[in-house]
Amino acid sequence: MKKSTVLVCGGAGYIGSHTSVELVNAGYGVVIADNFSNSEMAAVEGVRRITGVDVPFVEVDCCDREAFRKVFEQYEFDSVIHFAASKAVGESVQKPMLYYRNNLTSLMNIIDLMREFGRRNIVFSSSCTVYGEPDKQPVTEQTPRKPATSPYGNTKQISEDMLRDSVAAYDGLKSIALRYFNPIGAHPSALIGELPRGVPQNLVPYITQTAAGIRECLSVFGDDYPTPDGSCIRDYIDVVDLAKAHVAAISRMVENKSEERYEIFNIGTGRGVSVLELVHKFEEVNHLKLNYKIAPRRAGDIVAIWADPSRANQVLGWKAERSLDETLAAAWAWEKHVRGIK
Ligand code: UD1
Repeated sequence: MKKSTVLVCGGAGYIGSHTSVELVNAGYGVVIADNFSNSEMAAVEGVRRITGVDVPFVEVDCCDREAFRKVFEQYEFDSVIHFAASKAVGESVQKPMLYYRNNLTSLMNIIDLMREFGRRNIVFSSSCTVYGEPDKQPVTEQTPRKPATSPYGNTKQISEDMLRDSVAAYDGLKSIALRYFNPIGAHPSALIGELPRGVPQNLVPYITQTAAGIRECLSVFGDDYPTPDGSCIRDYIDVVDLAKAHVAAISRMVENKSEERYEIFNIGTGRGVSVLELVHKFEEVNHLKLNYKIAPRRAGDIVAIWADPSRANQVLGWKAERSLDETLAAAWAWEKHVRGIK
């Protein structure tokens, strides 16, 4: 029997498409809504091919309330996952209003429409960026948030607060915010993955595009940080594992496993990996040499952050399972698929 249905806003995007697959695999109905601002129809087709299910898709901008209302009128769903947001930290500094308008209007519309139509559960894509530069590693959900250092980070903090306050005020609503660490990799089928437009800002797409010969050379931003090899440390989480965390969050709310109506979970591996370690691991796993050089530090980067994921492990019953080797092999398989490399 089909479990309840989930509206996946931004379901054609990188994390949204992987989550749609895992929801279908777990027996949930899925409706994908996306405006293709940073994604392609091919991702929806990938989800359909992997699952063998003709997942319904609506092209809509979640910021356009009247158009978005029609999705609520047309489909029955109990839950919404909100991925439909912009995520480039640097761009958010250049174009703050684009980020505030896009990321906050979409969430406000979702909350208002959920209330209007009596839909109950919302999972929100938050980020470890809310912790800023932490004083202590690893970070738990109790680690204090620091003032945001970018408009992007600020939209994540404001969105978390908006959800906390809405849940407190409106009886019918429940929410889980997932604070992702650094999502990387691709589906093992190589049918969906990350598809950045233009020059990639994130490390792994830059690595795979360099390996594919599209970029000449990877710049490692800084080797003079106070870390063992001098490069920054992050917690790289496989996108399929991350997708499964959303399924766990949805089932926690749909099956009323908790009395809590607003909860936060760190979604990471618990392991810190440096930029240079990641580069060398990528070379080793995929048997290739990467052209890279040490470059100056990138403005705004923090030295190190990794998760304490115990709460997600114990309470959500979720754990990162895929090894870094598998993840980096999948990232390269996806890049080769996109570029037609044998
Ligand atoms: C940032 C945000 C995160 C957001 C994510 C998505 C912070 C602290 N983190 O992650 O919230 O969800 O972007 O866009 O704001 N690097 C290189 N060379 C490159 C690219 C990156 O050396 O060409 C290094 C960076 O200096 C960093 C690491 O790789 O140390 C990871 O960078 P990146 O993939 O951009 O992610 P974050 O900046 O950690």
